[in-house]
Amino acid sequence: MKSNLNINFCGIQFENPFCLSSSPVGNHAEMCARAYDAGWGGIVYKTLGLEKSFKVVMPSPRLSVYNYMDRKFVGLQNAEQITDRPIADNIRDIALLKKNYPKKVLISSIMGYVDEDWATLAKMSEDAGADMLELNFSCPQMARKDAGHRVGQDFHAVEGFTEVVKKACKLPVMAKMTPNITDMVPVAFAAKEGGADAISAINTIKAITDIDIEKLTPLPNIYGHSAATGFSGPSVKPVALRFVSDLYNAKGLGMPISGIGGIETWKDALHFLLLGATNLQVTTGILRYGYRIVEDMIEGLSDFMIERNITSLDEIIGKAAEKIIDPSDFNTRYQVVSVIDEQKCIGCGQCYISCHDGANQAILFDSETRKANVDEEKCVGCLLCKHVCPVWDCISYKEVDTEVMKHAAVF
Ligand SMILES: Cc1cc2nc3c(=O)[nH]c(=O)nc-3n(C[C@H](O)[C@H](O)[C@H](O)COP(=O)(O)O)c2cc1C
Repeated sequence: MKSNLNINFCGIQFENPFCLSSSPVGNHAEMCARAYDAGWGGIVYKTLGLEKSFKVVMPSPRLSVYNYMDRKFVGLQNAEQITDRPIADNIRDIALLKKNYPKKVLISSIMGYVDEDWATLAKMSEDAGADMLELNFSCPQMARKDAGHRVGQDFHAVEGFTEVVKKACKLPVMAKMTPNITDMVPVAFAAKEGGADAISAINTIKAITDIDIEKLTPLPNIYGHSAATGFSGPSVKPVALRFVSDLYNAKGLGMPISGIGGIETWKDALHFLLLGATNLQVTTGILRYGYRIVEDMIEGLSDFMIERNITSLDEIIGKAAEKIIDPSDFNTRYQVVSVIDEQKCIGCGQCYISCHDGANQAILFDSETRKANVDEEKCVGCLLCKHVCPVWDCISYKEVDTEVMKHAAVF
């Protein structure tokens, strides 16, 4: 049994919220067809540009990965540009895909340099049958300095180009935001002012993943040089979630959001939905595991909904975002203290070491019996011990009322 994962995003019906984000995973018709067949509800096609304005030359090698200890690929750095395929080939592919998959959604991602380019690309996409447009205001490594995320940091340019696109076609328009900015909300308002129907976030974060310590050169090593370029994958998810919830909670914005950044599993997808995204996009998870990851997403999300009697995704969108408040508004009357389950404790002493050197010296450790205990008078409830403990659920916590100092039941 499967749940109904349909969403309506900007007036367009998606069979499920899962889409390819604009990147090599949606580079041409044959790839996109395989993605549709695998179950993806929609595709944001690799960003189109016009050759007459700018010749795209891809740097090589253009990828570097962030491996952390024994976990490979926790993040990916890329130095890729928008598509280097001829515009005519891409437009032909979009038309072919819409002909063969009329019920699947195709979003054309475009990037112009001047008003005329944006208008031309919008019209060409509409004529080819695209259902929607995504305006790429956010690629952090365009070889032209007045393009990509530099546009996305300029409110007037975002508003102006959005307006041009809206005038040039009748398609719903989504503005793709750069995370390389302190506050995304004013840029989203600028896009709204220009007539955008939705916001997508995030594009990649400028970063440096690794250094070749023999050659003393950061990676990717592009003929002896490197650059801070787009970072994606699981490591960026916490930042992406923050931006999505900022957008969802921004008073007066009220725009549907397509959430992007580090989605690999159904739980990642659920996190984005709970923080306010209606639509979801993925690249790095597909680069790592292939189109098939959508099966886990569909099944996991569906099971979650069945277990909780949720009949529509609308019931959960934004439910966790509503609980995000300003840190100055936290209720500080209540505090927690750690509780160690003696039966589960394996006596490794990790909680003791971390509390002793990184917190409040509130864990007592008997080196003979190798058992740990909490000194509740000293414990400030930071829960560092719980987070470093290698045993799942060995350390929990209980609530303490800091005014009356009465201990409540263990959670
Ligand atoms: C190799 C590569 C190429 C990309 N190319 C584009 C692009 O052409 N247009 C665009 O809007 N975003 C591009 N992106 C950004 C992704 O669409 C996405 O916003 C970002 O990678 C975060 O999602 P993820 O963590 O699921 O990869 C690219 C990302 C990667 C890794």
